[in-house]
Amino acid sequence: MKTHTIQYLITTIYFFTLSIVIVLSHNLHATTLKPKDIRNFLGTRTPYRFKNNKNDTRISFPSCKETKIWMILRHGTRFPSAKDILGMNTKLKELKYEILMKNIQGTIKEDYLNLFKSWSNDIEIEQEKYLTLEGQYEMIQLAERMQKRFPNSIKNKYNSKHFKFKYTATQRAQQSARYFTVGLFDKNNSQSVVFEPALKVDTTLRFYKHCDKWLKQVKRNPNTYKEQMLYGNSNEMNVTLQSISKRFGLDRVLRLDIANLIYKICGYETSWHKYYSSPWCIGFDDVSVKILEYYHDLKHYWLDGYGFNLTYKQACMLLKNMFEIFSKKGPNATFLFAHSGTLLKLLTHLELYKPDSHLMGDTIVEDRTWRASNIDCFASNLAFVLFKCKDGDKILSLHQERIIKLPMCKEELCPLEYLKEYFYDSIHNCDHSDMCRLD
Ligand SMILES: *[C@@H]1O[C@H](CO)[C@@H](O)[C@H](O)[C@H]1NC(C)=O
Ligand SMILES: *[C@@H]1O[C@H](CO)[C@@H](O)[C@H](O)[C@H]1NC(C)=O
Ligand SMILES: *[C@@H]1O[C@H](CO)[C@@H](O)[C@H](O)[C@H]1NC(C)=O
Ligand SMILES: *[C@@H]1O[C@H](CO)[C@@H](O)[C@H](O)[C@H]1NC(C)=O
Ligand SMILES: *[C@@H]1O[C@H](CO)[C@@H](O)[C@H](O)[C@H]1NC(C)=O
Repeated sequence: MKTHTIQYLITTIYFFTLSIVIVLSHNLHATTLKPKDIRNFLGTRTPYRFKNNKNDTRISFPSCKETKIWMILRHGTRFPSAKDILGMNTKLKELKYEILMKNIQGTIKEDYLNLFKSWSNDIEIEQEKYLTLEGQYEMIQLAERMQKRFPNSIKNKYNSKHFKFKYTATQRAQQSARYFTVGLFDKNNSQSVVFEPALKVDTTLRFYKHCDKWLKQVKRNPNTYKEQMLYGNSNEMNVTLQSISKRFGLDRVLRLDIANLIYKICGYETSWHKYYSSPWCIGFDDVSVKILEYYHDLKHYWLDGYGFNLTYKQACMLLKNMFEIFSKKGPNATFLFAHSGTLLKLLTHLELYKPDSHLMGDTIVEDRTWRASNIDCFASNLAFVLFKCKDGDKILSLHQERIIKLPMCKEELCPLEYLKEYFYDSIHNCDHSDMCRLD
């Protein structure tokens, strides 16, 4: 072959390879996923980049002006608990070698096997539940988009009378608040932000942690986990455990606790890295991932949702706070940084994502709207915006940055007076110590 033909060939191969790489990384990098992509179903570990609203056009209504915003957020993507970090270092490390051994004459494709070969965990136990780099980006970008939507209530110049920032006494909530302000202000401004002191006992942002009655009647009540247990022993789960084991090329069936850990770590590693695919995700197809998702949803439904009245009654603490700030002279922009347990109970108090009947452990409810992957992913957020209109004050609600209609309202832009009446009890009969006292 002549030199230039070889060069031509090399160039062609180069561009061909390049385009494969681009296609592959584009796939990983994608922020809108195909409906069947398993990354849609990672439960509370779903990264926010798959769920956010990229449309940050200013939101306005004729004859109305936005004057205030009150927003509550779950912290961004974090590291696992100490227990799960330990699980990665022991159980998953052992399983990795077993999978490599069993696949010497490959059930698993070679590039997947290479992912396993190079897989390790470098997270220290000391970093448990710390906010990750991805979590920082989530907050910065979320803040930027919210400011573009509501530039009147969220000014880009900091002023301590105008803004209120508060977080729970945890590293992940504190860091989330910090990076959120980085998204709102320039460097000078964000360095001078005053945060409200974090409280050890915070009966507003983490009301449930200090509610003795709830801890006894719900959190430590075995009945709360009954449906999840039932589902864990179901035939659907049995079939799933077999499917996961088979996809890893194993000749034994993995136990539920291991499958669970694999599901969690698949979620975490997907959320931390935009450009890396976790080998643990190989275990799932779009059917089995939904079974694990439902298993986790059952827990949160009964622990943080509609299962027990006191669970969501307590969330009046937050709603009361919002109505007070909107009715009086409070700050124009309030941002509260909290947790999954806080957000879910508030969504339930607002009667959102309510299934027709309780979620049960006998079989999966496919078409439910109560789905942690959508309503409780990392950086989940709920915002109320006060609009001063010609015909009175109105509230606009946004969940995950999208306008929603509250179930009790006729329209998305809902009269403040009507909501105050509807939530009369939440505002006037909301005493944490009364509600939470053990009789
Ligand atoms: C973006 O948001 C604005 C304001 O809510 C809306 O009017 C517009 O239709 C949206 N654009 C797209 C492409 O969805
Ligand atoms: C901030 O809130 C006050 C009421 O507390 C209101 O009078 C004022 O117009 C708001 N600021 C802006 C910029 O809308
Ligand atoms: C930032 O703040 C410092 C000290 O307060 C000041 O000297 C500097 O000019 C400020 N920079 C900008 C860009 O505002
Ligand atoms: C699930 O599988 C186990 C053995 O792997 C078996 O003992 C159990 O009966 C099965 N349960 C159901 C509901 O099929
Ligand atoms: C719980 O709340 C529902 C609806 O708000 C009500 O119908 C039911 O009676 C309450 N149950 C208890 C035990 O208070």
